[in-house]
Amino acid sequence: MLISLGWLSALVAGIFALHIGQKLCFPYFWKDLFYLAKVVRYGLKMEMCKVTSKVFTVMDRFVQQAERIPNKTFIIYDGVSYTYREIDERSNKVAQVFDKLGTVKKGDTVALLMNNEPDFLCVWFGLSKLGCSVAFLNTNIKCKSLLHCFNCCGAKILVVGQDLLHSLEELLPSLREGGIQVWAVTAESSHPGVHALLPALEQAPPLPVPADRRAATSLKTPTLYIFTSGTTGLPKAAVITHLQSLKGAAGFWAYGGTSEDVVYTPLPLYHSSASLIGIGGTIEPFHHRHRAGSFHHHRAG
Ligand SMILES: *[C@@H]1O[C@H](CO)[C@@H](O)[C@H](O)[C@H]1NC(C)=O
Repeated sequence: MLISLGWLSALVAGIFALHIGQKLCFPYFWKDLFYLAKVVRYGLKMEMCKVTSKVFTVMDRFVQQAERIPNKTFIIYDGVSYTYREIDERSNKVAQVFDKLGTVKKGDTVALLMNNEPDFLCVWFGLSKLGCSVAFLNTNIKCKSLLHCFNCCGAKILVVGQDLLHSLEELLPSLREGGIQVWAVTAESSHPGVHALLPALEQAPPLPVPADRRAATSLKTPTLYIFTSGTTGLPKAAVITHLQSLKGAAGFWAYGGTSEDVVYTPLPLYHSSASLIGIGGTIEPFHHRHRAGSFHHHRAG
């Protein structure tokens, strides 16, 4: 009896010591384990995608969220809130405009040169809905380096923000020579050969293009091209596949973000952390929570 009691107290003391030891030496043990389990589960879901070749992209998730929670704030910019529906419908309009051109096919790349503004997302999402890859151009890239970017990603269309059009002026002849069509996010075009996007958007219906336009068959399909700033030589393109975009979007969720969180993004949206983690994380794939993203205008230079 004495012996077994001795054993028991030794056992209790042992477990207690282990517990204390774990608290002291590995205070995040359970949190880490929980996090690991979450990540493994997410990874398994993606593996299933590979097997079944049913790819549920970040854009699919956005469209789903826009149906599920249309009135939820998606973006806060300059003090103004934009709901999921507003961004969804405006991006539908963008898709309709470029669809009507008849020259934009699934798998094509379209270049985007814009500072942070809600239309950055509408153009990006609209083109994604047509199955295009979008090349985010760093707004610090100038002249020859910019032309080089078009060669890298094979884009034949450039969408440029109103405030950046002037920086493009001397490049316009070269772009035209290269057969690159330029669309400016402006009400009217004062440059010959530059199309004004806003009047076209006004006339376009906010209706979605068929979902099979954006459908991806492989996680390895490129969805974005993100360029380095090119401060050391010519800018280099990072090819972002659907897999990488899904991984980026899972970041906040994996670290415990909830639907009440607002993600503040001070970075320019052409930066991968801002677009993949900031915006992607706000949309949040594979999870039934939602939250608002917010970003600020970033001045180039
Ligand atoms: C969203 O708001 C509109 C107009 O305020 C309302 O008619 C609609 O029922 C709302 N939808 C949801 C899903 O809450």
